[in-house]
Amino acid sequence: MKTALVTGATDGIGKATAKKLLLEGWKVVILGRNPNKCEATLSELKRISNEVSAIVCDLSILKDVIKAVDTFLSENTNLHLLLLNANAIANKRIITKEGNEQNFAVGYLSRALMIKRLQDILGKTENAQILSVVGMDFSRINFEDLTMVEEFTGRKGLTRWQWAMNVYTREFNERNPILLNLYMPGLVKTKILANEPQPMRIFVKLLNMIVGISVEKSAENIYSVINEITNNHKRGTCYAWRKERSFPKVEMKEGDQKKLWQVTDKILGPFILAN
Ligand SMILES: NC(=O)c1ccc[n+]([C@@H]2O[C@H](COP(=O)([O-])OP(=O)(O)OC[C@H]3O[C@@H](n4cnc5c(N)ncnc54)[C@H](OP(=O)(O)O)[C@@H]3O)[C@@H](O)[C@H]2O)c1
Repeated sequence: MKTALVTGATDGIGKATAKKLLLEGWKVVILGRNPNKCEATLSELKRISNEVSAIVCDLSILKDVIKAVDTFLSENTNLHLLLLNANAIANKRIITKEGNEQNFAVGYLSRALMIKRLQDILGKTENAQILSVVGMDFSRINFEDLTMVEEFTGRKGLTRWQWAMNVYTREFNERNPILLNLYMPGLVKTKILANEPQPMRIFVKLLNMIVGISVEKSAENIYSVINEITNNHKRGTCYAWRKERSFPKVEMKEGDQKKLWQVTDKILGPFILAN
C-alpha cells in the first residue's frame, strides 16, 4: 500500500486530494493546524477508509514541524508522496516567535524543512515523490530584508515564498535524485483568497465563478499528475491542471540559487541540530 503525507488536508485542495488518494487505496496521513478541524476531517475521511491518521501542526513554527515529521517517522516506514500543499495568506506582517515572516515560514521554510527531514525515508521508498503546490506569481526575495521590514504586502508575502520554492526546486534537483516537482492548480473554489483586500476579493470571487474549478476536479488533476510523474520519472518539472508546462521563469540575480540554499540551511540548521 502506498503512503502519502498531505499538508493542509483539513480543507480545500488538500482535503479533496486526501479523499481521492484514500478512494484509490492509499494510506494517507493528513496534517492540519487546527485540532478540531483535524478531528472532523479524520471522521469524514474514515467513512472512506480506515487507512488514515492525522497530525496536528502549525507549520509556521519550525520546532513543531520537526515534531510532526518525527511523529510521522515513528509511525511509518515508507513515504511515496509528500504533498506540500498547506498555505494561508497572512495579509498583515506577522513575525513568528522564531523570528520568521509568517508567509515565508508556512509557504517555504516549513516545506524545505520537511523535505530535509523526510529525505531519507523518501530515498528508501521506491517511486517516491514530492509535489509542491504553488501559485503562478513569483517575486524575488530581498536577501537583505528577509522579514520584510521595508516593503510588506500580503501579495508580496505570497509571491516571495513562491519564488523561493521555485528557486529551491531548481537547486534541489541539481543535488538530489528524489523527484521534486511544482504543481499549479489553477483557480480552485476554496477559501484561501477570501480574505484578499478589496477590490481584489471581488475580482477573485467573480473570476472563480467564471473559471474556478471544484476541489474534486482539482484532486482528479493532481492524482493524474502524480501518476504521470511516477510513470515517467519526472523531476524538476512544473505541472498546471493536468499538463506539464515549462518551468516558470523567475527574476534571478547571479548567485541567487546558491545563496537561497545557504540562507535556508542557516535558518533551518539550528532546528535540525537541536533534534
Ligand atoms: N485555490 C486556488 O485557486 C489556488 C491557486 C493557486 C495555488 N493555490 C495553492 O494551493 C494550496 C491549497 O490551497 P487551497 O486553495 O486548498 O486553500 P484552503 O482551502 O485554504 O486550504 C489550505 C489548507 O492549509 C492549511 N493551513 C494553512 N496554514 C497552515 C499552517 N500554518 N499550518 C498547517 N496547515 C495550514 C489550512 O488549514 P485550516 O483548515 O485550518 O485553514 C487548510 O487545511 C495552497 O498552497 C495555495 O497557495 C491555490
